[in-house]
Amino acid sequence: MVMRRRPGCRTVPFAAILYTSLAMRVFVILPAAGIGTRMSAGSSAGGTSTPKQFLSIAGVPVLVHCLRAFLTVQRVEAIYVAVRNTEIERVQAQVAEFGLGAKVSVVEGGDIRQQSVTNALVSLVATTGCGDDDVILVHDAARPLIDPATIDRTIDAIAEHGAAIVGLPAVDTIKQVERTAHGAIVTATIPRERIVQAQTPQGARCGLLQRAFAEAVADEFTGTDEASLLERAGFVVAVVPGSPRNFKITQPGDIELAEFYLAGVK
Ligand code: CTP
Ligand code: MG
Repeated sequence: MVMRRRPGCRTVPFAAILYTSLAMRVFVILPAAGIGTRMSAGSSAGGTSTPKQFLSIAGVPVLVHCLRAFLTVQRVEAIYVAVRNTEIERVQAQVAEFGLGAKVSVVEGGDIRQQSVTNALVSLVATTGCGDDDVILVHDAARPLIDPATIDRTIDAIAEHGAAIVGLPAVDTIKQVERTAHGAIVTATIPRERIVQAQTPQGARCGLLQRAFAEAVADEFTGTDEASLLERAGFVVAVVPGSPRNFKITQPGDIELAEFYLAGVK
């Protein structure tokens, strides 16, 4: 039996994964309950108070771009979108308007991203009866240009390793710094080949993800992504190559950037 091991990491028996992968089900969580403070911080300079996941790119809301990409992947059985309570009806109406159908459920998110994912995870497990070996992907609703091929590769990596993220290799030289009153001073140079910028989707086998979230709750740990919870739980997290296109809409100007990327495809 092949075991994939890194010091201090829990391992998943490779043969067991191969054995179960035929029956593997795939689910998706889209956290979309943020209010986009960095986007609206520039409101006098063209920002907006509409949360960024509901803004339009080429006439289609950011969230709908994400839903379409995941629905293109045949293996995806169901998608859970976490939104603010006040947005539930709007999102349900959008799902109907764009004909996104029966695979999409809208649930209530929370005040922080991790809570939004937790709420969706609880709902997903309760309604699908998701088994330990099934796969759950989590994708920021603010990354509209994710492509189905990368989603597929992430699912395959989770099936093989137990957990995986999409990561963008660093192109710049990366410096470690110490913050000072006037900015920062460099304390070290981190070899570029040891760095990737974490994107989404990120995910794991349902059993591993549930354990990682349960341990985070027990330890009152909050992370900004799923990988940080999986890492601290000791699970191996594989990296699938990402792309600059899969950037997260974050600040004013990013909608135009996404439209630029999209126009380049035509
Ligand atoms: N998110 C969420 N619930 C929250 C906060 C964030 O579901 N309470 C979602 C966002 O909607 C987004 C993803 O998590 O799809 C990534 O978060 P981020 O880019 O930080 O979005 P916001 O929190 O909305 O933006 P900001 O941090 O600028 O306020
Ligand atoms: Mg945020």
